[in-house]
Amino acid sequence: MLPAVNLRPPFNITRTSHVVLHVADLKKSRDFYVKIVGLVVTEETPTECYLRGLSEACHHSLVLIQTRGEATCKRIGFRVFFEEDLDLAYQYFKDQGLPAEWADVPHQGRTLHVSDPIGTKLELCAQMKTCERMYLKRELFTGAHAQRLDHFQIFAPDCYALCDFYSQLGFRNSEYLAHGDKLLGAFMYRKGTCLDLAIVENVGPKLHHFAYTIPESHNIFTACDLAGNYGYSASVERGPGRHGPGGMLFVYLRDPDGHRVELFGSHYQTIDIEIEPVRWDAASLSTNVRWGLPAAERWYFEATSFEATPTIKPEKMPNPETLETFIQKQIAAKAR
Ligand SMILES: [Fe+2]
Repeated sequence: MLPAVNLRPPFNITRTSHVVLHVADLKKSRDFYVKIVGLVVTEETPTECYLRGLSEACHHSLVLIQTRGEATCKRIGFRVFFEEDLDLAYQYFKDQGLPAEWADVPHQGRTLHVSDPIGTKLELCAQMKTCERMYLKRELFTGAHAQRLDHFQIFAPDCYALCDFYSQLGFRNSEYLAHGDKLLGAFMYRKGTCLDLAIVENVGPKLHHFAYTIPESHNIFTACDLAGNYGYSASVERGPGRHGPGGMLFVYLRDPDGHRVELFGSHYQTIDIEIEPVRWDAASLSTNVRWGLPAAERWYFEATSFEATPTIKPEKMPNPETLETFIQKQIAAKAR
């Protein structure tokens, strides 16, 4: 069902690190992430803003870049453990015939730009400028008190094939979503919790969401209240709710450009080698919704494009139970 994992990968990716997004109005987006999500601004220029969560010691986990063009995702970033892992990664991607080039990126050590086989734009670095962790500076807390960037979810036209690629890089599945023998969602990790990278079958590559942890359940409701107060009530797209996979309380918000951010309670621990991934049946409604109504169609199908990256359709488009199909069924049942 799942591809074999290389437990001694060619280089050591340690964790989800940062995401770089284009935005149409830098001030508006900065305000959204500070006042609602609760991130801290580490540094800003007239065209760029570097933010981090309250418990993060590294310079940025979110970079906003002003653009006049399309509000795409420039790159998603992972950390590697040693500098030499970057050299090994460079060689690995070159050997696979995949793009790999060195880049100068502010506030980061040596940085490698690579793409996976479907064109997802990745950025790897081993070092970043450090800052004070802010988790006890309660007088400065705003928004939902977001603590740290935890994971990305991307769309891929062939979930199994991309899961196989990342399995070769040492990513392991905590849980997965399947219909019969068909893998539809792979929830993969490097850092020893449930997730660093979720891969879901759909038109891709696209960035579905990135997720920050919150310390208390009530922070999720604060985010919703503040979204309402600041004019983003329709941006509270899904939840509050509780996930099947991972079991966390969550809410998904759309930022001013439509980039999707998830706020959620932290995950359980994984790591141990004998633990088998948990299988979830994609056809079961309770997989995605432990209580409440299913997510709206836009949650399942809308996502952020990567900069200048063409997308590929899956062989068979997903057909999830959405809020819209659920309501149609209810209406039809009543009419009978
Ligand atoms: Fe997530």
